[in-house]
This record gives sequence, C-alpha cells and structure tokens, in this order.
Amino acid sequence: MQDSPSQPAAHGLNHVAIIMDGNGRWARQRGLPRIEGHRRGVSNVRAVLKVARELNIKYVTLFAFSVENWQRPAEEISSLMGLLEFFLERNTRELVKNKVRLRVIGRPDDLPEGVRKKLDQALEATKDFQDYVLQVALNYGSRTEVLDAVRAISEDAAKGKVDPAHLDWPQFSRYLYTADIPDPDLLIRTSGETRISNFLLLQCAYSEMVFTPVYWPDFDRKHFIEAVENFRQRQRRFGKTGEQIKAAPASEPAINR
Ligand code: IPE
Ligand code: IPE
Ligand code: MG
Repeated sequence: MQDSPSQPAAHGLNHVAIIMDGNGRWARQRGLPRIEGHRRGVSNVRAVLKVARELNIKYVTLFAFSVENWQRPAEEISSLMGLLEFFLERNTRELVKNKVRLRVIGRPDDLPEGVRKKLDQALEATKDFQDYVLQVALNYGSRTEVLDAVRAISEDAAKGKVDPAHLDWPQFSRYLYTADIPDPDLLIRTSGETRISNFLLLQCAYSEMVFTPVYWPDFDRKHFIEAVENFRQRQRRFGKTGEQIKAAPASEPAINR
C-alpha cells in the first residue's frame, strides 16, 4: 500500500467517479423501507473510500443527490438530508486524519441549513489538504452545471474578461464546478442501470465506464477491485488508432476545441 500520491498509481487510475445507485431496491428486496437502504449505502461510503485509498486513487467523486432527486417523496428527501448531515458530522474527523480535501459540486446553497453548516465545517477543516480529494455531488445536475457556467462566462464576456471568439475547452472547463479537478478516468455505476442520469456529462467525455449489477450497499472491496481490473484491460485511444497508442500511450484528448 502506497501512502503518497506523489507516485502515480500503477493502475493509471487517478480519478474514479461513482453513481451510487440501488439503495432503494436493496432495501425492498429485504422487505425493508427504502431509507434502510440509504442508511446502509451511507455506511458503505466509508468502506469504499478506504479501498480507494489503498489503491492510491487521488480523486474520488460520489454522486450523492441529484437535482432530479428533489422529485422524490418529501419523507425520503428529509431522511436523505438527515443521513447526509450525519455522514458529514461523523466523517469530518476521519477526513482530516486521512488528509483528504472535501469538495462539493452542485448547488449546495439550496440544501437545508443543517446540512450546509456541517458541509461548511468539513470544507473548512479540510481545505488545505492537497494529496487526496473527495468530491461529493450534492444537488448536482450536469445541465444545471452547464447553465451556471454559461451564465458566468456571459457575465465575464460582458465585462470584457472573456473573448467569446477565442473561447476554448480549457478556458470553458474552468467555469464548471469541477474546475482544477482532472476528468474521471473511470465511472462506475452500481445497481444494473446503464445510464448516466445527468452526471458529469462533459467530464466523462473520455471516461471508461463500468456498470455493475450490484446494489450500492453491497458494493464492496472485491467489486471495486474488479472494476479497476476491468479498467486496466481497456485501451484508451482518445480518437487515435490502437497502433498509435501502442507506440505512444496518450493521456488525454489532444484536441480541446
Ligand atoms: C441511490 O439509490 C441513492 C440516491 C439516488 C440518493 P436509489 O434510492 O436511487 O435506489 P433505487 O435506484 O431506487 O434502488
Ligand atoms: C442517480 O440515481 C443519482 C444518485 C445516485 C444520487 P437515480 O436513482 O436518481 O437515477 P435514475 O432516476 O434511476 O436515473
Ligand atoms: Mg436509483
């Protein structure tokens, strides 16, 4: 087990993003209320983060609550918010101990005050850590993110800070919630659904995808390592030919316009 990310991980996996899905079905399968699945799902986060650290993965992004999830029954939303607050309260010390910087993507301002408070405390307590990042998508939607970026760019263009004629991808991407965070190398979705559900649509342009039928509360070390092994078998071509990649491995798309 390596402890310092200054050495790149041998599996070439710098950033893994996870759509943690299937809590409700996990519970229903056992005749339990959906919230019981969420409870188990939240406790599984800690275990999965431990494996990510063991694998020396520097960036982990977790989809915790989407903008679309507000359409769920009020009771489920309020339980989810309660669990989120509990998670932050319980895990801030652990994040500090492990020197993990917490980051939020989405619109956290619309979250209940209790959650925002715990979130602010955790963000403040971890803000100086450099080596590992836990990015949590909260009240997140890709289309909302694009709209927020376009709005900010338009304002900067009106002030003369951005020249629309010369706007390129590196500049545009700095207006996304994920500014300064490299794109995910691997996107994992649990629960058997093979869709993206408005998650990191732009950032996953060249991510490798692994869809597993396992419900999130059951997703363990073994499944995580299987997904990483699966990732390792892929040839990432970024638009080039397989022969070109064999001659000189590419690390990112060369064309960013
Ligand atoms: C994922 O589990 C957690 C959130 C979306 C908050 P679900 O609650 O979506 O579980 P299923 O998909 O209904 O089984
Ligand atoms: C995606 O799961 C959101 C999170 C995991 C937080 P959903 O369960 O909301 O996605 P859909 O509705 O099945 O596409
Ligand atoms: Mg779901």
